[in-house]
Amino acid sequence: MAEMETTTETSNKYLFKFKGFNFQKKLVTPDYLETMEDFETRDGDVFIITYPKSGTLWTQHILALIHYEGHRNGTENTETRQQIPFFDYNTCNLDFTQWPSPRMFCAHLPYYLVPKTLRNQKGKIIYVYRNPKDVLVSFFHFSKVLVGLGESPDLEHFLERFLSGNVTASSWFDHVRGWYMHKDEFNILFLSYEEMIKDLRTAVLKICNLVGKQLSDQEVDIVVDWATFKNMKADLRANYESLPEVFLKKGQGHFLRKGTTGDWKNIMTVAQSERFDKIFQEKMKDLPYKFIWDIN
Ligand code: A3P
Repeated sequence: MAEMETTTETSNKYLFKFKGFNFQKKLVTPDYLETMEDFETRDGDVFIITYPKSGTLWTQHILALIHYEGHRNGTENTETRQQIPFFDYNTCNLDFTQWPSPRMFCAHLPYYLVPKTLRNQKGKIIYVYRNPKDVLVSFFHFSKVLVGLGESPDLEHFLERFLSGNVTASSWFDHVRGWYMHKDEFNILFLSYEEMIKDLRTAVLKICNLVGKQLSDQEVDIVVDWATFKNMKADLRANYESLPEVFLKKGQGHFLRKGTTGDWKNIMTVAQSERFDKIFQEKMKDLPYKFIWDIN
């Protein structure tokens, strides 16, 4: 049987650090990352920012449905990832400076690597976060599907990587803590995946409010309907099934996997869960915020 790579070996192979934060080697260069902080944001710009596996694509899709009437009524067949592209993983080398306003992006960046002008409230941020145990499980499965994440043979191995921040986007704890502690510097809406699951309509209305888009009740209903897990899974614009094989390993799983809360209970052992809880308490205990999920 082949020897299992250690957590550090797996990470070194696939990741590099830029200003203390992990990026995927195959998808972005330090030269490009160097330009991000000086990118001039505009008033109408919207950035969806997340730690991976927290509901990025879901929020991208909702925002596209809110913003583009053609996306909503089926006359526009553009994929969500093209309408609201990744800012940090700009794999198509798009020149965003030439894009008309309002520009919309998503990114996994920590608070200290985003364009500096966002701090002057030039542009808005939707920060989506999710129960980290569900993030862990979703990330573990996704590492088998996305090329270049570094596959872990089992959850135990991935748990080590996750808890020590040896994954793309580094530590979940640092990401969420950083954004929360610096939230007053930005024009930001904090949304949890769990509240989106519980009441998608209210989450849609909060996003409409942030981006200043007034939709009729019927239009909001349409956004909510297109953004359900079932409909996104069947929607080629939103399900990533058309991503080329250089990105996605075919037949290894789907981007829209389960779309539920509490899936961690099906896979984490009691010992793994308790270990996680202990670290969660240590790292987050002084955060003046009550997370809405049931971590236990
Ligand atoms: P699971 O792997 O737990 O199913 P991201 O876009 O940040 O990578 O997040 C991916 C996670 O969001 C996946 O979680 C995916 O299924 C879930 N997701 C995507 N669209 C969703 C929707 N409409 N409703 C609920 N969950 C959704």
